[in-house]
Amino acid sequence: MPLSIAHVTTDRPERYLKQLVSHLGHKASTTVDSQGRGTVTLGSGANCVMTARPGQLELVSAAADAEALSRVQDVVARHLVRFATQEELTVEWTAPVDGAELEPVHPLVDSYLLRHCTPADQVLHDLAERTREATGQAAGMQVSADEGALLTMLVRMLGAKYAVEVGVFTGYSSLCIARGLAEGGRLLACDTNAEWTAIGREHWERAGVADRIDLRIAPALDTLRALPDEPHIDIAFIDADKQSYPAYYEEILRRLRPGGVVVLDNVLLGGRSLDPAYQEEHHLAMRRLNEFIAADDRVDAVMLPVRDGVTLARKR
Ligand SMILES: C[S@@+](CC[C@H](N)C(=O)[O-])C[C@H]1O[C@@H](n2cnc3c(N)ncnc32)[C@H](O)[C@@H]1O
Repeated sequence: MPLSIAHVTTDRPERYLKQLVSHLGHKASTTVDSQGRGTVTLGSGANCVMTARPGQLELVSAAADAEALSRVQDVVARHLVRFATQEELTVEWTAPVDGAELEPVHPLVDSYLLRHCTPADQVLHDLAERTREATGQAAGMQVSADEGALLTMLVRMLGAKYAVEVGVFTGYSSLCIARGLAEGGRLLACDTNAEWTAIGREHWERAGVADRIDLRIAPALDTLRALPDEPHIDIAFIDADKQSYPAYYEEILRRLRPGGVVVLDNVLLGGRSLDPAYQEEHHLAMRRLNEFIAADDRVDAVMLPVRDGVTLARKR
């Protein structure tokens, strides 16, 4: 339960943010980023990210456990109240939550979103059903109908002729990408599992896109590293083993044409990306990559609350 937020009403959010960063900088580590957002990090690693918004100072605290969270909250709130000599500030933190309990989108909104995008056609519908029958629990790895529609739309909007996919499973996202390609377009689809991808092939054939898809059964990094070292990729979709995302991102970005887009799935990891209590290798890799992409001056990036979080990174 190591995450909490407070919105402090004030007409002087920038001023307090500066005071907090400057004063706490004597006892803790403090930074201010290019957006003017301040961060205070205590020795325990517990931190508070401070953002000045119109009429309020937003404080987001995160820590590895409840005790460390309470300490960082106390340090920030106490100093803030002390600095406010001309007004009385109230700092009310939300109850601590575990990142894994967060819903990016309210279930009612979620249901509405799903009902208001172009529905999956019969082949996609049958592929989803076949995947559930054939793979059981693993079927949860498949992209949803709205994410599939987003992929087709992005491919079409880019006029993409060369696409790369890392993580095919039973081929739902591959089908969505392949059918959006421009005339003569190709999709290089990477996976290690011949059994799952065979289900994809059947449905790609039914949809009339099988001849546009080059399926490579091999570790995706090997396949990517064997590609020509020139910017020829229009769009790439990364949806495989999470700890390898940073390596996939780099191999793809160097081969992406300017204006091309990398789409990364599951960037929220069910809310665990936000929560420092989660320390497994894939949590750390995704957390670092999310920070890295946001500051990567080779791309313009936006993170969308689509399903488990989708980042779009467009090469400059
Ligand atoms: C989340 S699923 C992909 C889901 C797919 N995009 C869809 O819409 O159905 C992840 C896939 O990544 C594959 N995978 C895992 N590690 C891999 C690796 N090192 N190289 C290539 N594929 C890998 C798995 O076999 C699995 O099929």
